[in-house]
Amino acid sequence: MKYQAILFDLDGVLCTTDRFHYEAWKQTAQEVRAPFDEQINQRLRGVSRMESLEIILEGSPLTLSGEEKLRLAEEKNDRYRALLSQLTPADMGEGVRDTLKRLRAAGLRLAVGSSSKNAGFILRQLQAEELFDAVCDGTQITHSKPDPEVFLKAAEQVETPPARCLVVEDASAGLEAARAGGMDCAILGDAEMPFAPTYHLDRLEELPGLIL
Ligand code: BG6
Ligand code: MG
Repeated sequence: MKYQAILFDLDGVLCTTDRFHYEAWKQTAQEVRAPFDEQINQRLRGVSRMESLEIILEGSPLTLSGEEKLRLAEEKNDRYRALLSQLTPADMGEGVRDTLKRLRAAGLRLAVGSSSKNAGFILRQLQAEELFDAVCDGTQITHSKPDPEVFLKAAEQVETPPARCLVVEDASAGLEAARAGGMDCAILGDAEMPFAPTYHLDRLEELPGLIL
């Protein structure tokens, strides 16, 4: 087999938490009088919480102190966590669960590589923790995507050289991170990408057919 491990992004790949991020950031944008729409939201995919706030603040007439920025990020996260508590195992489709089980049964090691500091909470809500050999998330890294750190650490945790890893992503920051880490990348969905990924998927369920 070409790959020994698959490294999955979480938000937008294994579950659709994007709508919660959108709702929670929308209120922040209103507070700082910045515009917010789907296009701006796309730019927040894969990047860290504080970097996301900086992107929103690009459209704000206000100049905020570091302390005010931290408060805004914390309040956004409180709203986001309240929304996340609605997540149930049904929010990870049976098709996704079966795909993960099939890949693992074929001998592949599976890891999560997410910029989110809420990844542990999300995986618990989805009851999906036992589907993975390792979880590397925003609490373990100092540089978020497009830096390759999260994927390089995840690869290390599943004891696999980068060249034998495949990353599955939905965001351009993730595609760039995979390339910077020397890994192939499958892109799920139709977001615009700066260059062609190794594979393109309309649904995660297509993955075993491409690589097994
Ligand atoms: C990524 C999301 O998974 O996590 C980003 O795609 C988000 O949109 C980032 O900003 C950080 O998330 P959190 O949960 O730590 O605020
Ligand atoms: Mg994502």
